[in-house]
Amino acid sequence: MTRAGGRDADLGTVLVLGGTFEARELAAQLAGRPGMRVISSLAGRVRDPIRPAGEVRIGGFGGVQGLADWARAEGVHAVVDATHPFAETISANAVAACAQAGLPLLRLARPGWQPRDGDDWHRAGSLADAAALLPALGARVFLTTGRQGLAAFAGLHDLWFLIRCVDAPDGAMPASREVLLARGPYARAAELALMRRFAIDVLVTKDSGGSLTAGKLDAARDLGIPVIMIRRPESSAAKSVPAVDAAVRWVTGQIPAAAHLSAAAHPPAAAHPSDRGPPPESGAPDSGAAEPAAR
Ligand SMILES: NC(=O)c1ccc[n+]([C@@H]2O[C@H](COP(=O)([O-])OP(=O)(O)OC[C@H]3O[C@@H](n4cnc5c(N)ncnc54)[C@H](OP(=O)(O)O)[C@@H]3O)[C@@H](O)[C@H]2O)c1
Repeated sequence: MTRAGGRDADLGTVLVLGGTFEARELAAQLAGRPGMRVISSLAGRVRDPIRPAGEVRIGGFGGVQGLADWARAEGVHAVVDATHPFAETISANAVAACAQAGLPLLRLARPGWQPRDGDDWHRAGSLADAAALLPALGARVFLTTGRQGLAAFAGLHDLWFLIRCVDAPDGAMPASREVLLARGPYARAAELALMRRFAIDVLVTKDSGGSLTAGKLDAARDLGIPVIMIRRPESSAAKSVPAVDAAVRWVTGQIPAAAHLSAAAHPPAAAHPSDRGPPPESGAPDSGAAEPAAR
């Protein structure tokens, strides 16, 4: 077997930059395909993350150079940036690192939400803009922007906040508040009941898109309350697709060619047939079956 970075170079290796439902879905659909090795990367922000299928690594790479070096050392053939639409830095790093390492890069980003009849949306360019809009729109706020950046709302002493996030927040945040630790998906009926229970009169959200957390938008419409919708940052410069199935097609188009090139560049040295594994295209179970979650 030929090796690259201590790994099997006969496998086509895809790096999925993750932290989203779509990233996990992509890993689930790719892991275990013959000839393919899938490594998902998580930032390590969430204490107890849901682990994607295939291999998993956790923690930052150390900037653009760190990501490029890591991808080379692991023999990566293609990268899918499936991070959250608001994870700006890692998306920019992926563009620069893939250019440096000569790797194909795809951005998988779900479309943003669109207002419907009956919605009362107010667009904001940032968390600070949202905080500036809030006092004119309501007094009891459902804040669903995550645990980072809560300091932007800390000065709003006359408002009460229901803050929902996965892990407990720390640092500056509104003094008058209740923190609700929860992880989606969130259904419309449960969101409606929650917002009624806390007499919420304004919702603040990022334009994350997708169906899993859209129940709060339906509930806000049902209650006739305003929504502050924080705009997405500039989209990645990489070629982008909106859905997992398109990303699967892109990866499977990249990986066979890449795996073939690796194998051709490092032909097996052993002449004895028993030293060779089955060819990747044989579909034999040991020619690229999913590894258990490793790191
Ligand atoms: N921002 C959100 O609203 C949001 C919501 C839901 C989920 N997430 C997920 O949470 C993660 C962090 O989001 P963020 O907004 O803090 O990111 P960010 O600001 O774009 O990234 C900051 C740094 O975190 C590291 N990092 C981010 N994502 C990584 C990944 N998937 N694998 C390895 N390192 C990663 C990188 O460190 P190095 O420079 O050291 O490589 C990056 O420079 C993302 O993976 C994202 O998908 C974010």
